[in-house]
Parts: sequence; C-alpha cells; structure tokens
Amino acid sequence: MSEARSLFLVGFMGCGKSAVGRIVAGKLALPFEDTDRRVEERAGCSIEEIFRSSGEGRFRELEWQALQSLATPHRSVVATGGGLFLGVVQRRFMKERGIVAWLDAPLEIVRERIGRGEGRPLWSASDAVFQRAFFEKRRAAYALADFRVDARSSSEEELAALVIERARALWH
Ligand code: S3P
Repeated sequence: MSEARSLFLVGFMGCGKSAVGRIVAGKLALPFEDTDRRVEERAGCSIEEIFRSSGEGRFRELEWQALQSLATPHRSVVATGGGLFLGVVQRRFMKERGIVAWLDAPLEIVRERIGRGEGRPLWSASDAVFQRAFFEKRRAAYALADFRVDARSSSEEELAALVIERARALWH
C-alpha cells in the first residue's frame, strides 16, 4: 500500500466532514483540503451562486475538477461535498488514491445541524419528505466507503480520534 494514500471524508451534508477533517489533519500533521472551499475559491463565488447561475450540473463539473486538482503525491485529509462520492468515477478516484471514511449521522442530527440549509441549495429547496428519501438513498452510496464511523453522539474530537484509529489500521 502506497505511503501517499490520502484520507477522504464522505457523508451527508451536516455530518461534520469539514470540522472533523480539520482536526484529523491537525493531529496527523497533514494538509487539510475541502472540495467545497476549493470550488468556491476557483469559481470566485459561493456554491449557492453557482447553483443559481449555472445549475447543479455545472457545480458537479466544478467539484470533480476540484477533487482532481487535489491529486498530489502527498498524503492529505480531504473533506468532500456530500454529493461527490455518489459519482462512480469520483468514487473510484477516491478509492484508488486513498482511504474513504464515512461519517454517518442520523437525519435528525443532520436537520438540527443544518437547519434550513443556508448555503446548501439542495437541502434548502426541498421539503421534509423529499429530504428523508434523499438522505436514505444516499446512505446506500456512502456505505461503499472503506469504513463507517457513527457520528451520532460523539464530539468532533472523539470522532476525529475514531477516524484516525480506523484509518491507521488500513494505512499500515
Ligand atoms: C452537496 C453538499 C454540499 C455542497 C453542495 C452539494 C450535496 O457540501 O457540496 O451544496 O449534494 O450533498 P456539504 O456536504 O459539505 O454540505
């Protein structure tokens, strides 16, 4: 197994990928990357604006480009947007280049955390029934990650420690 394998964090919106990823990267002294932030930096506007002006299809192209731009020979910790692991090609890319950790938080917690979904157009534009179906459908894809961490009740620090423990077992 190559030493340069990265760690990708996947999961539904609001499950804590960015916060946990930042802690994991800090503890492992690795660079931290966030595909959503990279999309915004490269586009020069917010994700919401991209959806509004160019639609979801364009956003998906930009996030795929952002993910590819993170392919370096160095190991890093990458928090991904909640839809990125759903694409077959994108999934293969992550699996080939690293270890994929799924942060699995129940819908009730996701709802609490993201509220009306400000800055998250796919959530803010949908009602509770759609949100549940959308959430359940996506879990099937996230289950293809290398491991799952229950993000229900632990603090971000505790989750980061769990992710590191599981990732280390696969890294070595
Ligand atoms: C999306 C999740 C968002 C962001 C975009 C689309 C999705 O990222 O990429 O709004 O399809 O689940 P977070 O998972 O960081 O909220």
